[in-house]
Amino acid sequence: MNNPLRDPRDRRLPRIAGPCSLVIFGVTGDLARRKLMPAIYDLANRGLLPPGFALVGFARRDFATQDFAQIVHDAVREHARTPFNEDTWQQLAAGIRYVTGDLGDPSAFAALNQTVATLDAELGTGGNHAFYLSIPPGMFPTVVEQLKSSGLSQQRPDAWRRVVVEKPFGHDLASAQELNRTLGEVFPTGSVFRIDHYLGKETVQNILALRFANAMFEPVWNSNFVDHVQITMAEDIGIGGRAGYYDGIGAARDVIQNHLLQLLALTAMEEPISFDATHVRFEKEKILQAVVLPDDLATSTARGQYAGGWQGGELVAGYHDESGVLPDSSTETYAAVKLLVDTRRWAGVPFYLRTGKRLARRVTEIAVVFKRAPHLPFAVTDTRELGNNALVIRVQPDEGVTVRFGSKVPGTAMEVRDVSMDFGYGESFTETSPEAYERLILDVLLGDPPLFPRHEEVEQSWRILDPVLEFWAHHDKPAAYAAGTWGPASAEAMLARDGRTWRRP
Ligand code: BG6
Repeated sequence: MNNPLRDPRDRRLPRIAGPCSLVIFGVTGDLARRKLMPAIYDLANRGLLPPGFALVGFARRDFATQDFAQIVHDAVREHARTPFNEDTWQQLAAGIRYVTGDLGDPSAFAALNQTVATLDAELGTGGNHAFYLSIPPGMFPTVVEQLKSSGLSQQRPDAWRRVVVEKPFGHDLASAQELNRTLGEVFPTGSVFRIDHYLGKETVQNILALRFANAMFEPVWNSNFVDHVQITMAEDIGIGGRAGYYDGIGAARDVIQNHLLQLLALTAMEEPISFDATHVRFEKEKILQAVVLPDDLATSTARGQYAGGWQGGELVAGYHDESGVLPDSSTETYAAVKLLVDTRRWAGVPFYLRTGKRLARRVTEIAVVFKRAPHLPFAVTDTRELGNNALVIRVQPDEGVTVRFGSKVPGTAMEVRDVSMDFGYGESFTETSPEAYERLILDVLLGDPPLFPRHEEVEQSWRILDPVLEFWAHHDKPAAYAAGTWGPASAEAMLARDGRTWRRP
């Protein structure tokens, strides 16, 4: 008899990467230090990396391998999620290598080729190598070209080569298509992994579980019941030391083009036939194709720029005073946009997306706000405190789901008031969730693509956003909003025109 505990179809067993290396370009950058290196350590600590695993750093600075290992060590100590374990560290450190060089220098790539060949021979990495471009996007074509001419991108029947790119995937539709051509000339489609780290978050993956594993949500998940959807990604931090990346890019390109449109896609898409990459990406792309902007962009978009002020007891600089920002910069640090989804399911249901820096608090959530009950058999005074029902997916922090509905206030009257019912990850699960980058790096090494957007999705997102950026480029500069608030007055006005208000999470 089959033992149900040994079902070969059971996908809950931990998946461990096979022998391979991860080569990171841009190891001295913020992302590598704060997210990538700690995630690699956490994977090692969870036993998900093979003994034959190597981490290769590539950067311009003239480090010895020991110096680089120290950088990784410090990053792990400071930012890893799991506790520091000396054995794990020693095992990882044994596979650390460093190559010095300029991103455009063929001899540096020849040295890299030599390094990975030596790793194959000495550490058994098996010819499997992933190249993570944690570098300014302007350098992508140079590196991809070098990977090609040095032979590093060369696929073999018995070994894989993969490339990992971080957003921004271009700065508009045309440049995204150009980037895709560049990558496509060197790497086959299945070997390109585009990172949108929101898709690696547990709470984001849970959107599809919530919708499609349950009977109670999907029947009301449509225009018959939903009034509108609000997708918020608010940050309380400013741009920090990232002016070089952020100025000229702005909130819409930085966050709406990728994270928020992906959240919209997962919230609005139809049920996929399976959770295989092809099916999930197909449904996401289909819904993105159906997204349209309202005709009047002046009333259906809003943007702002943070001014200095007090935030959480701290006096913070305004955007213009951040180091590296151009004095007359019109880069928005807050962006909001109203979108419509042209399908039967979502006919007439607006999706409001907003993101900003230096807002009142850090919170990412998707709020599905329902219509009012068609009839309220109560005295008007009894339902004054009753709002719209809402289902709120709390992406972060305080991960979970809240359902808001009306309940009778104890007493002799039939007064009804909003109450909440909560699911919190912290209370329901004993394990803490892995960091998004742990999941995504593991999936790259396993060659598992569902959590990586396809270039068609990226291009659809630019198709949606390009007219907004074009419109903004020809209109007034973004208005200032005070640090620690919920953004510019124009964003409030945008919803007020529709008779709605933004949530104050
Ligand atoms: C990045 C943006 O993609 O996401 C940053 O470039 C932003 O500007 C960051 O701060 C936020 O990520 P998280 O996971 O902290 O919400």
